[in-house]
Amino acid sequence: MLEMPESATIGDLLTHRGISRRALLQYTTYLASLLALPPLAAKDMAEALAKTRRQSVIWLSFQECTGCTESLTRSFGPTLEDMIFDLISLDYHETLMAVSGAAAEEARLAAMKENKGKYVVVVDGSVSTKDDGVYSTNAGKTNLQVLKETAAEAAAVISVGTCAAFGGIPHANPNPTGAVPVRDIITDKPVINVSGCPPIPEAIAGTVAYLVTFNKLPDLDDKGRPKAFFADTIHDRCYRRPFYDKGLFAKQFDDEGARKGWCLYEVGCKGPVTYNACATTKWNGGVSFPIQSGHGCLGCSEPNFWDRGSFYRPLSSNTLNDVGIVGGAAAAGAAIGVASALLARRRKRQAEREAQP
Ligand code: SF4
Ligand code: SF4
Ligand code: F3S
Repeated sequence: MLEMPESATIGDLLTHRGISRRALLQYTTYLASLLALPPLAAKDMAEALAKTRRQSVIWLSFQECTGCTESLTRSFGPTLEDMIFDLISLDYHETLMAVSGAAAEEARLAAMKENKGKYVVVVDGSVSTKDDGVYSTNAGKTNLQVLKETAAEAAAVISVGTCAAFGGIPHANPNPTGAVPVRDIITDKPVINVSGCPPIPEAIAGTVAYLVTFNKLPDLDDKGRPKAFFADTIHDRCYRRPFYDKGLFAKQFDDEGARKGWCLYEVGCKGPVTYNACATTKWNGGVSFPIQSGHGCLGCSEPNFWDRGSFYRPLSSNTLNDVGIVGGAAAAGAAIGVASALLARRRKRQAEREAQP
């Protein structure tokens, strides 16, 4: 098989691999639906992608558990293979790259030099800052040093996972390493947060695909997350919502209500205050998500989710004040009382959407 020159466009690569433009259009149609773009955007995306060179991506792993990378390898659309072969040039990733040691470091430095000002840095894991970051090092450098050095000439940074986006579990009390999110360190360029512990693979892949295709940032919420995946709460889209609205709640995981599939609010579900796409995109190629498997949402895509009290106590007696949606009714502890606060917030968001040009 002929080698493709480095300057080859994505269109050239697809032709080289025997993939038709029609298949590219099918692919961008899927991406457009994933990103909640109008159907006509698919054609523009296909044309733009065909003319674009693959995006250089440098993936840095800091204080993390590899769950975020594991999640990405299970993306069904775009798959990791689609991304690596068709959309991006994954120039550095400690877990996935073939080389190691000095050769790996050279690959990172070479990608930075060749794509100065254009490459995208993806980070999973939080950054240790205590005692100059000595609690997490790689190749003789602290994560803090590597992040500053690598992001300095990047076009944008994507924080993948709640650890990178908000500090996550390493940041949990008592935070022995002084863990902070990437946004606390990188303040002079765009940082997109794709939170979740781990994040939904399609949200990671879709965000990267958007950047590559449109060469601009997607619309972000007030926590820096792409609205395409984080505009609604789990509760807004939950299939158990009719039970919530009727006041039908499981009180224990093995009671009659749980068996009948009633709402999990009273066994601790944090869906009403958690923004993520689990209820619509789901996991494992759309098979299921935590609530469908019988467990409440833990709120894993939100800041400080680990420190917000018990996962199994209802929000109304637990953390609603922390997340700032509660009026007096919810603070009084009645599940139904929370509904008015949620409804008011939903109406506000709807009005904001309608006001957008
Ligand atoms: Fe692991 Fe969760 Fe942190 Fe990702 S966000 S690295 S899955 S602990
Ligand atoms: Fe679904 Fe949880 Fe909301 Fe109940 S509280 S409707 S289980 S998201
Ligand atoms: Fe996390 Fe809740 Fe989804 S726990 S995986 S945001 S349902």
